[in-house]
Amino acid sequence: MKSIKLATIIGARPQFIKMKPISSYIKKHSSIEEIVIHTGQHYDRLMSEIFFKEMKIDEPQKNLSVGSASHGKQTGEMLIKIEEALFKIRPQGVLVYGDTNSTLAGALVAAKMNVPVFHVEAGLRSYNKAMPEEINRLLTDHISSLLFAPTQTAIANLKKEGLYKNTILTGDVMLDSILMFEKEIKKMSFLFEKYKITHKNYIIATLHRAENTDNKKRLLAIINILDNIARNIKLLIPLHHRTKNALKKHNITVKNIDFIEPVSYLTMLFLEKHAKWVITDSGGIQKEAFILNTPCLTLRKETEWQETLENNMNTLVDTDEMLIKEIISKTTTPSNTENTLQIYGNGKASKKIVEAIINYFE
Ligand code: UD1
Ligand code: UDP
Repeated sequence: MKSIKLATIIGARPQFIKMKPISSYIKKHSSIEEIVIHTGQHYDRLMSEIFFKEMKIDEPQKNLSVGSASHGKQTGEMLIKIEEALFKIRPQGVLVYGDTNSTLAGALVAAKMNVPVFHVEAGLRSYNKAMPEEINRLLTDHISSLLFAPTQTAIANLKKEGLYKNTILTGDVMLDSILMFEKEIKKMSFLFEKYKITHKNYIIATLHRAENTDNKKRLLAIINILDNIARNIKLLIPLHHRTKNALKKHNITVKNIDFIEPVSYLTMLFLEKHAKWVITDSGGIQKEAFILNTPCLTLRKETEWQETLENNMNTLVDTDEMLIKEIISKTTTPSNTENTLQIYGNGKASKKIVEAIINYFE
């Protein structure tokens, strides 16, 4: 007999990846039943379905098909539809991940229904309120009953906001995800041929953050820098739909960059692992590059993943072309030391999180 009914709210690509190890762990516990609600924030096959298929995640019990819209409209529609769904499900707790509009909507509906909210990846801060994600994570943390912090930095941030009491240091679930699929990535060397790449001889880049794509001048500057770099080394970009649309809108074209469709999770991990450099504005990819021991350049002014900077595996380059060229022209690349992986835990974050949720109800 299951005694805890937990509703999980997800909706965007990184959330499918983060939920995999936790949902797998929940299945091992007879005392907890998980009902997954997909808001439909991401809906294209390569942004959603492919992750469920490849990682063998059960289809969500409900897809709210909210789709794309402005922040207010998208979040508003999520609020209405999540509330309808939760009225029917009547969960004892709601689990949310990260910092997307789906995260905030799930947390807000639950909190107003007096249902405890459990937040995975709590305490991350960029201290830049112009980022929609910063608003989402701040508000979600402040209405959560359990805050699962991935790092000591996150713990320190939550302490500053008076939220320490309900905080648990868990380590990072993305490390758990990588460890789950580590063996499979080793079997994927056919991708060298598919993408015409060789080990440590190419750059993998991603770009989708609103501050980079929604400002024509900034987008053009970044694309020009990457296109110049790609004259000398193969540079692959799996293109996020937001960026594809922005490039089209502004008529921005390239000569040297290899744009490809968004790739599956295992393909992405393979491409990150074998690249000489990762260049990105993604949160998850900075961390994955660190764990996979590939140095990273981040196309932002700040990062939530401070530990990657402190260990010299990541540099905030913003749009500084000189700095980027100087870094990637060095003959030796930085590398992790033996202990640095501990920064993101021991690969058992999911276990800690599920056990903490069960304890919460005991
Ligand atoms: C969202 C999250 C961001 C996260 C990212 C992960 C918010 C505020 N932002 O950003 O934190 O890093 O997901 O990838 O929640 N689109 C499609 N097909 C899709 C999905 C999106 O074409 O399946 C296009 C639409 O034109 C849409 C645009 O991409 O307007 C942006 O999508 P949206 O989910 O609003 O934001 P992301 O940039 O994906
Ligand atoms: N990712 C993927 N395919 C891609 C690009 C990214 O599977 O084409 C994965 C990546 O490995 C990481 C996650 O998506 O696990 C990061 O998501 P994204 O960059 O969209 O969002 P963020 O982490 O910035 O919120």
